[in-house]
Amino acid sequence: MSESTEARPSSRVLPHELPASLRAAGLDNWIREPLDDAVDRRRRIIVPPAAAMAGTPLSAYKGDLLAEARHPDTVFMMGDNPALPTMPERPALKDFFLLRFGPIARRHLLQSARVARENGLGEKVITACLLHDIAIAGLLSANHGYWGAQMVAPYVDEEVCWAIEKHEALRYFPDESVGYTYPEAYIDYFGPDYRPPDYIRREHEAARRHRWYMTSRQITINDIYSFDPDVVVDFDEFEDVVGRNFRQPEEGLGFDGSPVAHMWRTMIWPNNFL
Ligand SMILES: [Fe+2]
Ligand SMILES: [Fe+2]
Repeated sequence: MSESTEARPSSRVLPHELPASLRAAGLDNWIREPLDDAVDRRRRIIVPPAAAMAGTPLSAYKGDLLAEARHPDTVFMMGDNPALPTMPERPALKDFFLLRFGPIARRHLLQSARVARENGLGEKVITACLLHDIAIAGLLSANHGYWGAQMVAPYVDEEVCWAIEKHEALRYFPDESVGYTYPEAYIDYFGPDYRPPDYIRREHEAARRHRWYMTSRQITINDIYSFDPDVVVDFDEFEDVVGRNFRQPEEGLGFDGSPVAHMWRTMIWPNNFL
């Protein structure tokens, strides 16, 4: 097939002036102008997912953002966002840690896993600690234990997966017998009057009776609530544990056709319109 030149956007076409309403609403943050060296000279709009917009002023402007795409110099973001590092074709867990997870979450996971190892815990617990908040790190914070468990289900031991899911409920409830108290940080985060909803209470009750309770409880015990920015933990410190406990698909995470591949692809291209 010969390369078409006529459909290619021209670098001579300057992007149109954005409506003042969009600028006033700060929506230019969601609009990426082409980089200086970009061949494709069109600006690209990032439409935040509904889960991020609902209940915020952004939701009132969704129509305005959508309307921008009618201009020939503007398209919706699809594929690589130049503001993000490019992922390899067959990304491994390490690539998500280094190229997609934010520094705070990455540090949190690595520090938690290191503490678990220093406390002499087994590889299942270390793996669970390393992975317990990956949903927060790369996908979604709400219900992060459940999202996180699903993301890793095809690749880890069932016990690790269960522990990740249940840590979401367990972290709200002390277990003095093993020295776990309600996190001080949660008083700051949610206020002293916060009470977890009933479904979380029920999850906690059920998890306590489960044979894998202590695996999940260990996540909450080794969870680092106060992040130390000076402690640097290299992912390579866990390369061996990951190698033995995380079945990295040959095709790369996101491309193995598993029931959760779409979640990993969403982290590779988090700004895709569809
Ligand atoms: Fe968590
Ligand atoms: Fe955590």
